[in-house]
Formats: sequence, C-alpha cells, structure tokens
Amino acid sequence: MNYAIVLLLLLAIGLYGWLVRRYDAQRIHQINRWHVAAFGATIAALYLALEPPLEPFADGSFFAHMAQHMLLVYVAAPLFLLSAPMMLLLGSLDLTKARRLGRFLSGPFWRFLTFPVFTWLFFMAVMWGAHFSPLYELALTYPAVHILEHALFLTSAVLFWQAIIHIGPVSWPMNFPLRIVYVFLAMPQGAFLGLALYQTRVALYSHYVASHGGSAAAALADQHAGAALMWIAGGLLLFVVFMAVVAMWGRYERRLGEQLDAQFDAQLRSGAISAIALGLALFALGARPGVAATLDQGRSLYQIHCSSCHGANLQGSANAPSLRDVSLDAIDFYLTTGRMPTSVLSGQNQHRTPIFSPAEIDALIAFVMSRSHGSRVVPLVDNAGNLARGRALFIANCAACHGATATGGSVGYGWIAPSLDRATVTQVAQAIRVGPGVMPQFDEHTLTDRDVNDIVRYVNVLQTDVVNAGGLPLGDLGPVAEGLVAWLGLGLLIVIIRLIGSSA
Ligand code: HEC
Ligand code: HEC
Repeated sequence: MNYAIVLLLLLAIGLYGWLVRRYDAQRIHQINRWHVAAFGATIAALYLALEPPLEPFADGSFFAHMAQHMLLVYVAAPLFLLSAPMMLLLGSLDLTKARRLGRFLSGPFWRFLTFPVFTWLFFMAVMWGAHFSPLYELALTYPAVHILEHALFLTSAVLFWQAIIHIGPVSWPMNFPLRIVYVFLAMPQGAFLGLALYQTRVALYSHYVASHGGSAAAALADQHAGAALMWIAGGLLLFVVFMAVVAMWGRYERRLGEQLDAQFDAQLRSGAISAIALGLALFALGARPGVAATLDQGRSLYQIHCSSCHGANLQGSANAPSLRDVSLDAIDFYLTTGRMPTSVLSGQNQHRTPIFSPAEIDALIAFVMSRSHGSRVVPLVDNAGNLARGRALFIANCAACHGATATGGSVGYGWIAPSLDRATVTQVAQAIRVGPGVMPQFDEHTLTDRDVNDIVRYVNVLQTDVVNAGGLPLGDLGPVAEGLVAWLGLGLLIVIIRLIGSSA
C-alpha cells in the first residue's frame, strides 16, 4: 500500500467534507447529496487505480497499467466534476474571496485553459504523447515521472470533461450539438490510439520486456491486451457518454418545442404572431445561429439607440445608469426582453418584442461587453432541474411578487411584477441574477446555480403545464421501459463487438 496516496485521498476527503459543511451552513438549501456520492465514487476510483491490487501489477504489465489509466481518465475525472467542486468552492468562500475567484474564472487565463478546442487538443496530445514518446518509458523507470504522468492524465482529463459537464460556473457553455460533436470527435481518436498500439509488431517498452522475463513475445501480447482494453472499453465508455448527451439533447429540444408551441399559441391569441418573435424565442433559448457579431455594427447601433441615455462611452447620464460594469446577463436580458431601448425614463419597462434582430442584438452585446468590466459568467440553465425543489424555491422566493402560479401581481408604488408566461428559460435565470427594476437581485449566495436551474424548470412547467413521467423522450414510455431500450442497445453493441472480435 502506498501511504502517501492514502494520505492524499484522506486529505481530499477532509477538504471536501469541510467545504460541504461550510456550504450547507451558509445556505438555506443544502448541497445535493448526489454530488457528495459522486465525490465518494471519485475517491473509490482513485483508490482502485492507484493502490493494490492493481498498482503493483501496473509496474509489470502494460494491460494493468492501461486499466489504471482508463480508471483515471474515463472514470475518476468525470466523477470528480460531477461532485461539483467549483460550485462548492464558490459557495463556501466569503463574498470578497468568492468575487475574486469569480473574476479569476472569467479572466483570460481560465478562459484559455477551459476553451473547448484547447481542452480537446490537449487531452488528445497527452493521450498520444504519453504512449508514443519516451515519457512512458521514463515514467516506468522513475517514480517521480510516473506521478507527474498521472497528474498530467488527470488534469487533461478534467479539463476535457469540464467542457461538457456543466455544473457550477461554466466559462464556455456549449449547446448540445456542440457537445455532441465534441464527444463524437473524441471517439475515433481513442479507438485509433488503441488500434495503433494493437497493430504494433514490436514491444514498445523495454521495461515490460524485462518484467516479462526478457520475453519480447510475452511483452507484445501484453501490449496488445492493453491496447484492446483501451480500444474497446474506452470506446464503449465514450459511446455511452455520447448517447447520454444525445438523449439529454432530445429531452431539452422537446421541452423547447413545447415552450415554443405555448408561446406560439399565446401570440396567436393576441393576434401578433411574427416570424421575428419566433426566431427570437429560439435565439434567446440558446440555439443561437452563429452570426458573426461585428463590433462596428454594434458600435453604430449603440450610437443611434443607446448613447443618448447611457452616454457615448457607456458612462451613463442623469437619465440612465452607466453600462461600464454591466454583466453579460443584464445586457442580454434587457435586449432580448425588448426592455431596451426604452422610452420611459422613470418607471417600469415592459417585456416587448425587441426592435432588433438576433444578429443586431449579438452585435450590440459584443460592442458593450468589449468595454464593460462586468461578469461574463452565464448561469447554467438546461431546464432539467428538480421540479419539486424548484417549486419550493419559487414559492419561498418569487411567489410573493409574481403570484403562486407566476401570473403576476402588484408590488406597490405602481410597480407590477409581471406574469412570467413570456420569459424564456434563459431570461428567467437572467432575471434572477440581474434583478431588473425593483425586483431584488439574487446572487449565488442566496440561490445557487442549481437552485436557479430548478426554479427555471418549475417556471417552465407553469408556462407549459405538461406533466412528464420522467425518463428520456422515447415517446414517453416512462423510465423503466426506456431503461430497457438502453440495455437492448448495449446488448446489441456487445454482439457487434464480439462479431468484430471473432472475424479478426
Ligand atoms: C431613454 C433612455 C434610454 C435608452 C435610449 C436606453 N436605455 Fe438602457 N436604461 C435606461 C434606464 C432608465 C435604465 C434603468 C431602468 C431599469 O433598470 O429598468 C436602463 C437600464 C439598462 C440596462 C441595465 C443596467 C443594469 O445595470 O442592470 C442595460 C443593460 C441597458 N439599459 C442597455 C441599453 C441598451 C443596449 C440600449 C440601446 C439599445 C439602451 N439601454 C437604451 C434608459 C435608456
Ligand atoms: C419584490 C418582488 C419580486 C420578487 C421577490 C421577484 N420578482 Fe421577478 N420581477 C419583479 C418586478 C417588479 C419585475 C419587473 C421589473 C422590470 O421590468 O422593471 C420582475 C421581473 C421578472 C422577470 C422578467 C419577466 C419578463 O417577461 O420580462 C422574471 C423572469 C422574473 N421577474 C422572475 C423572478 C423569479 C424567478 C423570482 C424568484 C427567484 C422573482 N422574479 C422574484 C418583482 C419581483
């Protein structure tokens, strides 16, 4: 047993427990036990990978070593992210420190490190580089290099997976099609690497030749077994992730469709259906077409429509606040809900159909954000939150003003908390973080990203009023039947793999 590793794992458990206690103490709502379970599983995976009985074998066998790497990269790293470390950290720090961390997370260094193109290439470079370079042999010879190699594997894997596991602050939120492409492109890479190793005709690592009693043939067979493990088990795991993302997308799209239908109906009733409004609803829900938002276009739009109140340099005026520290959320919210440009100088702005096209809004946002120091952290909304929690949170925090079923109400002094039937999921999340007009602003210490996600889900259900049995949208068969379909799929996959194996 390696006591240093056991000590490190115990330390990690202590730290996590401490964070959880601080987090729970500072909030009305406790952290989801599910995250804690994921952390437990992370520790278990790390222990399994780095301690006996696997570890002693890893020194003498490529196969065991490969199993160890797979555990680190494909199991421990994603599980760690599922334990919501960043959310915990942000939530348990005091306000100034949390702000500082928030600034770091939206700063250039972190943004570069978590940029999906970079994380994808980095992960692949580490996987290929580690096996086809002297690093591997060095790692087998020098324990320090071995530790470094494992650290490199873990870091690159955590960076790789954070691009698609959106829990806590997300620096590059990717929509579902992008996430699917991201995983899809990784699948052949892993398989090629396994295949490349499988096709080797010489034992690559002299260390293993020695550990197999000098027999190059035994070392080669061992090498092929390890390669097959990487090819098949790694491919299977990535495939499962791929299917999971596809399923999540389907479910998201279905809810989106329902919401659009509801909006469409509402607009039909009011006799004001316009293609722009529909396009906009789609746009605001995150399915943004990849318009090249040009700063120039944004600048001229700003000068025409905004500068009279907010000043030529965003400095603000007697009539309107400065936009120098405006957050991405705020500007997006004010523009997509048609609140800006306004004509009312004091008093309430209404949710209207924006006068700008989605492309123009993008251009305006790009221009204002190029000069604002405000936060760019976008809250996570996948509209898959917990309905029961969302309901409880809504009743505790929002119902007083917006009414128990979000139909709206008066808040005094002529202010109206509007009905929430027009706000998209993104806009609800933004409203919570921004606090438009006299609505209070709820920061991460009052409502966590997860709380927001749950509330958004509940508001969305109030809007669409659809009862869902749960599970994936396979024709609403319900979770059990859908689980069966998943198992059938897996069975089929195994059969195919067997066929490939027997024909080789
Ligand atoms: C007639 C004056 C006027 C014009 C024109 C105007 N605004 Fe505003 N804007 C205001 C006022 C007043 C507020 C504060 C009211 C509120 O928060 O609801 C405000 C608030 C905002 C906010 C929220 C600021 C914050 O700190 O939360 C944003 C963002 C914004 N405006 C963007 C714009 C953009 C972009 C344009 C041009 C498309 C624009 N505004 C045009 C008067 C104006
Ligand atoms: C103190 C009363 C108050 C509370 C509490 C409150 N709101 Fe609001 N909310 C308002 C008012 C007032 C507005 C309109 C602000 C404006 O546009 O100037 C508003 C606007 C909104 C909007 C924009 C609606 C649209 O279609 O443009 C959303 C979404 C929203 N609130 C959601 C929430 C949620 C979710 C909560 C609970 C976390 C909440 N509000 C809590 C008063 C409140």
